Amino acid sequence: MKKIIYRKATPKDYEGICKLRHQLLDDPEERLAVEYAPYNEKIDNPWIKKCLRSKRIVILVAEDSEGICAHSIVAVEKVPQRMLVYVTYKKKARLVHLYVAVNKRHQGIGKMLLKYTLKYLKEKGAEFVDLECYMRNDKAAALYKKVGFKDVFVEKRYDLKGKK
Ligand SMILES: CC(C)(COP(=O)(O)OP(=O)(O)OC[C@H]1O[C@@H](n2cnc3c(N)ncnc32)[C@H](O)[C@@H]1OP(=O)(O)O)[C@@H](O)C(=O)NCCC(=O)NCCS
Repeated sequence: MKKIIYRKATPKDYEGICKLRHQLLDDPEERLAVEYAPYNEKIDNPWIKKCLRSKRIVILVAEDSEGICAHSIVAVEKVPQRMLVYVTYKKKARLVHLYVAVNKRHQGIGKMLLKYTLKYLKEKGAEFVDLECYMRNDKAAALYKKVGFKDVFVEKRYDLKGKK
C-alpha cells in the first residue's frame, strides 16, 4: 500500500490543490449539487489562494507519491463575545468540502482524511463540526455515518419553478 501523508496545506500546495479540484469538471459525483454553478477554475483558483492564506478557513490534504490526492476544506467559526448570549457554543467548524481524486477512491483515503480533519479541529478547540450532505449522495452519507456524524435536522425545499 502506498504511503499517504495527512497534513495541513500551506500556500505552496496551491498548484496541487488546483490540479485536484480541476477533476470537479468531469466528476459525475459532483453533479449531485445541481444548484451550484459548474466548476470554473477562474473563480475557484483565486478562492483556493484566498483560503490558503486565511486564518478562518483551513485546508487539510492527503498526499501520496503522485501529489495531493484529497482535501478537506473547513471553516472555523469562533463566536464573538457579544453573540454568546444566543448560542451554546464558543467555537464550531463547518466542513465545506471533502474531496478525493477520482482514481484514489474506495481505498480509505476519504475516511482517513475525515478522521484527521476531526482530530485537527478538536485540537483547535472546535466543539462540533457540521456539514451539508445531499440525501442522494449515498457514499458520502455512509462515510459520515460511519465516522460518527448524526443527522440533526432535515432541510426542506419547495420548488417554485414551473409552479403557478
Ligand atoms: C465521498 C468521498 C469523499 C469518499 O471518499 P473515498 O476515499 O472513496 O471513501 P473511503 O474509501 O474512505 O470509504 C469510506 C466509506 O465511504 C463509503 N463508501 C466508499 N465508497 C463507497 C461506494 N462506492 N458505495 C457506497 N459507500 C461507499 C463506505 O461507507 C466506506 O466505508 P468502508 O470502507 O468502511 O466500507 C469520495 O467519493 C468523493 O470525493 N466524492 C465526491 C465529493 C463528495 O461527494 N464529497 C462529499 C460532499 S458532502
